[in-house]
Amino acid sequence: MNPVKIIIKRDDFIFAKRLLWKMRNKETRFDEKKFMKEGKDYLIDYAEKNVGPLDPSKRAFLKGLLIGIGVIAVASAVPLINSLNPEEVTLKKFPWMIIVNSDGVPIEASKIPVNDPEILLFEYPMLGDITFLINMGDENNNPVEIPPTNVLIPQTGKTYYFPGGVGPHKSIVAYSAICQHLGCTPPEIHFYPPQYFKPGGVVPDFLPPSAYQAAISVGAKSVIHCDCHGSTYDPWHGAAVITGPTVRPLPYVQLYWDPNTDYLYAISMNTNAPPIMDHTSDLEGAAYLDSYNENTECPKFLLSKGKKPTDCYTKIQDYGNPFQGE
Ligand code: FES
Repeated sequence: MNPVKIIIKRDDFIFAKRLLWKMRNKETRFDEKKFMKEGKDYLIDYAEKNVGPLDPSKRAFLKGLLIGIGVIAVASAVPLINSLNPEEVTLKKFPWMIIVNSDGVPIEASKIPVNDPEILLFEYPMLGDITFLINMGDENNNPVEIPPTNVLIPQTGKTYYFPGGVGPHKSIVAYSAICQHLGCTPPEIHFYPPQYFKPGGVVPDFLPPSAYQAAISVGAKSVIHCDCHGSTYDPWHGAAVITGPTVRPLPYVQLYWDPNTDYLYAISMNTNAPPIMDHTSDLEGAAYLDSYNENTECPKFLLSKGKKPTDCYTKIQDYGNPFQGE
């Protein structure tokens, strides 16, 4: 029988991709016998446990999927989810992408609020690869330079290079907003600014005391924390791991700041860092960005007069052996 193809919303598509990856992973393998016995309750419990809390729209998506597919659903869940997606797409090189607001207007680096917990998000390098854009500052909201550092990968004991912040104060950084443990996304994964961590600072309501103490004990000035299972990252030091269960730092996106226009560009990622959660490589993903032009390999709006398509991507830098997870 030919696989059923279903048209779904982009968010649901990305969610389904994550679910499928977990179902096939040997550590989180989906129990199809149990699914045939327990039906949708098992699938929903499984998704909550392995992909993270389900909001009402994700629940409705899963239920609708089962109703819509009918007989195939009871035959097997993996082909069911598999039927939703085309093959992964692959980039040859990291594209240069100008970072714009929701109206398509380029963001000006000097206007990004410092320490803003309502953090900015953009997608890079592929559709659904959501990324934090943070202007780091001190407890008085003055921008601070984020220096380069080597970041430890607890999973392997190896390190990789993080080049530090960019912008007029070298204070702007970009990290994947997909938790490296099981893939929770904002608002579950959240930025806590330095006001909480100054002497006498108040423990934020949603930050467990153990994560707060761990951050204080390593001298972290602010953290990115994931409420799903408690992973904590240090955004002043390349989003290094402060507390597990994650064993991988959040990968960073290399930014370029144009001092003439004050615009910011996402230009690359470090292949020695662990790839974005659920990816085998940062160059592979669910779909190209809407702004990406498959023919020129450039974001369309970056091609200005006198520019060639080849000016629009970053060669993969040779950092030595790329990340090997095991
Ligand atoms: S998904 Fe488990 S800690 Fe973030």
